[in-house]
Formats: sequence, C-alpha cells, structure tokens
Amino acid sequence: MAAGMILCMSMQLFCACSKEPVYETDQIYVGVTYYDQSDTFLNQLIDCLKERLQDYDEEGYETTLLVREASNSQRTQDDQVKELIDAGCNVLCVNLVDRTDPSEIIDLARENNVPIVFFNREPVAEDMMQWDKLYYVGAPASQSGVMQGELAVELIQSDPLIDRNRDGKIQFVILEGEAGHQDAIIRTENVVETLKSNHIEIEKLGNGIANWNRAQAQNQMLQMIGQHQNKIELVLANNDDMALGAIDAYEKLNYTESALPVFLGIDGTDVGLEAVRNSKLAGTVYNDKEGQAEAMAKLSVALVSGKGMGEIEFEEERYIYLPYSKVTGSTVEEFMGR
Ligand code: BGC
Ligand code: CA
Repeated sequence: MAAGMILCMSMQLFCACSKEPVYETDQIYVGVTYYDQSDTFLNQLIDCLKERLQDYDEEGYETTLLVREASNSQRTQDDQVKELIDAGCNVLCVNLVDRTDPSEIIDLARENNVPIVFFNREPVAEDMMQWDKLYYVGAPASQSGVMQGELAVELIQSDPLIDRNRDGKIQFVILEGEAGHQDAIIRTENVVETLKSNHIEIEKLGNGIANWNRAQAQNQMLQMIGQHQNKIELVLANNDDMALGAIDAYEKLNYTESALPVFLGIDGTDVGLEAVRNSKLAGTVYNDKEGQAEAMAKLSVALVSGKGMGEIEFEEERYIYLPYSKVTGSTVEEFMGR
C-alpha cells in the first residue's frame, strides 16, 4: 500500500509538473484550434504554418504542432484549448468560432500562463485587453474590400459589355461570409463604397449570406438567378469559395460563357488562383497566408523562447496585419506556388 501511495504521489507530482509550461525554452509546442475543417483558406493557412514552424527546427528549435478543428462549436473549442494546454502546449494559436466569445479560452490560458496568438477571426478590442499575453495576426479587412472594388472599377471601365443591358448601371449581387465576421461586414461595405466613390452607377439586386462556403453560395446564387435571370452583371463574393459556388450555379443551369456575369473573389486560394488563370474568375484579392503563417510562427517561437520579440513589428503592441494584393489574369502566375 505504501508503495502504491508513493507511486500515486509521484504521479501527481509528475502531472503537476508537466502542466506548468516551461518558459524561455527552445521546445515550442504550438496548439492550434480553428473554427471548422471545411474552410479552404484556413486549411491552406495551417499547412503554411506547419512548413514555417519546420523552418525553425533548422535554427536549433524543436517545434511540435497539434491541430484541432472545432466543428463550428465554441463549446468544443473551449474544451480543445483545455486539452491542448493539458497536452503541454506552451503557446496557442486560436481561430475563434465565435469571435465575440473568447473569455473562457482567455481564462484558461491565463491560469496556465500560456500566451495566445489569435488569428484570422479578430476578437473585439475589449477582449484583447483582458490579458497582456494576447496577440492577433490577420489582414486589414477594409483593404480587401477596397481592392476588390478597384478590380471591379478597372474591369467595368475597360469593358463596356459588362453593362449587358446598356442602362448605364451595373446590376450586382453580393455573396457574404458569416454574419458577424469582421471580414464579411467590412469587405461588403468597402467594395460597394469603392464602386460609388469611383462614380460607377450601381444597382444592388440582392445579397445572400453563404458563410464562406461554396455549396451554400451555389444555393444562394441559384435562388438569385431564379429571381433576376439575366439581369445580374456582376457577382461580388466575400471569398473565392463563394465566388466559385456562384460559378457552379451558372454551370448547373448550363449558361453559356458569353451569358455569364463577371465574378470577383477574395483569398487567392489554390482553387481561386486556378479559376483566375482559367478566366472563370475575373480577379481576386490575395489574402497573404504565407505572410500570416510566418508571423504566427515567428511570434510563437519568440513568445516561448524569449528570443526575437524585439524584431517583430506590431500595431498597437499586439496586432500584426499583413497587406492584401490584387490578382488578375495578368499577375496570377506570380501568386501560384507561393
Ligand atoms: C477568408 C475566408 C475564410 C474566413 C474564415 C476570411 O479571411 O477570406 O475565406 O473562410 O476568413 O474565418
Ligand atoms: Ca446594366
């Protein structure tokens, strides 16, 4: 019995120790959780993160990456954070399911002194103030909307045939990402503003929320085509997957190429760039996943090892935003295989 007690005590001790993250170590255990496994952009971003972390192994660090997907449930994600901390992660990269509800995760991280790099789904400013070891890596949403608008303006000004019914106005629809996501709201506002400020006469025929998802976008688009038939001249999608879903809808209805509206996306995912190369998408706006992954890797390594923090440039001390770029048929090759 005594032996059993000793074993038990030493096991408890062992557990207690392994729970405490060790700081200023070159062993970087990164725990990632992201909102849903079906997201094309995030799957590619996380692949990039894997690669970038491996680069640090060559510099004498020992990196390990654990990835969880939260199946669109904040509850599940909260549990995953606990599990990742218990597994010994000493830094977390969190893509929130509900960007307005990070309190549980922040509490867990703070209790265990594990810093968090939020990414892609930006917590509100007040939540970022809850603790000083919270960071954010993403992209300036308004820029992507402005750039998509500029792409549309350039196309409309150079090709009078886009105004199919020659009424001097561009009839358009918008496919939006999740309600409440900073990128959906801000992209939609800015693309429309940019068209207006460039004196393009526009008429909005409809909009549909398709939650960043290709199949949902196809459904939304089928409904809008049902309502407006050939009147739609321009389809603005908050991301590439939804732009491709819109194209799927027209293909399903057997529209001929010459009867199609112009489609614009955002992201420059592999499938998005391929569609630009094939001229199915008139253009997209590159969401710099390589840059974001690099920033996440660098910041994670710096936070755990205590080295290199001084070299990182932040906005307001905790934010890193990587700029977008416009992609058209003539520049698409530069972005492929990045
Ligand atoms: C991307 C979308 C993605 C979303 C996920 C956005 O920045 O453009 O493709 O679905 O983030 O949060
Ligand atoms: Ca028109």
